[in-house]
Order: sequence, then C-alpha cells, then structure tokens
Amino acid sequence: MLFRAVETLFKFPPFFNFAVSQAREKIAQRGREIGVDFEGEVAALRGGTDWEWEMRGVRDADLAYPDYYTQPFHAYAQGNLCWEAALQVNAAAKSVHAPVMDPEGKLLDPEGDAQLRGSYTANMLRLMERAGASRRVKNAVDIGCATGLSTLELRSAFPDAQFTALDLSPHFLAVARHLQKQREAESGASEPVRFVHAAGEATGLPSETVDLVSCCLVMHELPRAATKNIIAEAHRVLRPGGTFAIMEMNPASPGFQRVFKNPFAYAAFKSTEPWLMEYISLDLLAELQQAGFDTVLQAESTPRHFTMVAVKHAL
Ligand SMILES: C[S@@+](CC[C@H](N)C(=O)[O-])C[C@H]1O[C@@H](n2cnc3c(N)ncnc32)[C@H](O)[C@@H]1O
Repeated sequence: MLFRAVETLFKFPPFFNFAVSQAREKIAQRGREIGVDFEGEVAALRGGTDWEWEMRGVRDADLAYPDYYTQPFHAYAQGNLCWEAALQVNAAAKSVHAPVMDPEGKLLDPEGDAQLRGSYTANMLRLMERAGASRRVKNAVDIGCATGLSTLELRSAFPDAQFTALDLSPHFLAVARHLQKQREAESGASEPVRFVHAAGEATGLPSETVDLVSCCLVMHELPRAATKNIIAEAHRVLRPGGTFAIMEMNPASPGFQRVFKNPFAYAAFKSTEPWLMEYISLDLLAELQQAGFDTVLQAESTPRHFTMVAVKHAL
C-alpha cells in the first residue's frame, strides 16, 4: 500500500522533477567526495568535439528502436537517446559505483567502479575454467556497451580478441568512438574494437561464429521479452562451447533487499529504472537453461552484483 502510494507520488511531474534534480545533485556531490569533478569532466567532454558529427559516423539511421527503449530512463526524459545521458555516464558510473564493494553500501571508494568491473572479468575467467569452457577468446561481443567502459574491461581480460561492441544509443556510441579515437591517438595503435549501432536481440552477426558474448549491467534495463530475445541471440551467434557472460544486480542481496524494504528508496530507484520489476521477476538461470545453455554457473561479484556464465553445448 505504502509502496504504491510512493510510486504514485513519483508519477506526479513536479515531485518527479524534484526527485530527479535531487538524484543528479547526489551523484555530483558523491563525485566531489571521491575526488571526481563531475561537472568539470562532463563540460570538458561536451566541448571536446562536434557531437552531431560524431554521431553521424556511428548511427544506423534505419535502425528501429523497440518501444521499451524510447521512454524516460535514469531520470532523463529521452532515456539513453540524448547527449546529457551520454556525456554524463562515465563520470556518473564512478560516483554511482563508489559504494558497491561495501556490504553496508556506505563507504565510498573512488575505485568502486573499477573494482566492480575487475571482479566481473575475474569471476568470468574463474567460472569459465570451472565450466570447462575455453578461455582462448578470439572474438567477443559486448551487448549494451554504452560508452565502452565494459568493452575496455573485457579487452584487459582477453587482450588477443577482436570485439564487436553494440548499443542502441547512437549518442553513447558517439562518445565511445570519440574516446577510442583519443586513446588511439595517444597510443599510436588502433584498437580491435568495432562499435556498432544495433540491438542485442538482432546483432546481424553470423551464427556460431563468436567465442564470448558479454552483457554487463544491461538486463535490469529490459523487459522480460527483450532479455529472452537477447539470450536467444547470444545462443545463436556463439560457436559450440562458447560462453555467454552476464554481470547484473543481485535482487536477493542484502544491499538490494534494504532498498526494497524502504518505500522511498525503492520508488526513487524504480522511477529511474522502468523495467526493474520485470528484471527482478525473471529467473535468469532457468531462462539460460531453457535457451539451450548447458552449464550455468554463478558467483558473487560485489555484495550487490553477481556474475553468471552460461556455456553453449560443445559438439
Ligand atoms: C547501464 S548501461 C551499461 C553499459 C555498459 N555495459 C557498462 O557496463 O557500463 C546499459 C546499456 O545497454 C544499452 N541497451 C539497452 N537495451 C539494449 C538493447 N536491446 N540492445 C543493445 N543495447 C541496449 C543502453 O543503451 C545502455 O547503454
């Protein structure tokens, strides 16, 4: 009852807008506490290039966006399809993930985001070994790569692989490509990563050609049907014996249970994550098994996140 009342309150635009501005200020404030100049980083990126021009280089103008993707998200009215979201996401990740390694969710660590990502690949490698999957990855797909933070982490785990990094947001991909060009100019070497504007449920890649598909922090943003379609697509593109790796929020963890028990924290969270309840009610392990994955293993990545590895049946 109280939960429903609070949810209704969040649907009232003046209250929603107030909550959103508070949430943004909290991200910026937490950034300052861990030494991240949130506004400065975003302003530097904003002035760094002609963003409309960058976007033309990565956008597939014929791509049709699924309905679930074109609604307000993360407190942005245009969801991930706007420059505000794309320019803020890297600085926001450092701020939002600062407390993830603390079981109480209170201690802020400037390296929280890096630790979260490092624990994903460390668990992925460990679980692949346990599952008997080959860790010699020559090509990999990062579904929902955003500005490329998850792709960079995958590269460090699989330095010899070629990557296809997909996202539905041309704004995020424009930032990903811009940052990639900067890194390439600094290092003098081109990166083995191709950023592609496409949906994870329709990658356009040939069947049975990929060694590893990764989906990092994407599924909590999807309705059930989209997650099932992405699982089916991952199964299709993976070669026999290939691995599908997932890192996600763990709704059963004490950290998330604390949020679910507090109606205001829950409503604030849900108001920025419209598909949260669909994600929570999905039995991911069962879906992976039903899609034909042989071995499905899971490990804790942080006190609030898990890593799951699903291996496609080897011939
Ligand atoms: C929370 S972000 C995670 C980004 C990145 N993997 C990371 O770890 O930082 C989720 C990303 O998934 C993308 N996304 C959501 N639905 C998608 C879909 N069906 N296909 C491809 N990308 C999708 C969003 O645009 C967003 O960039």
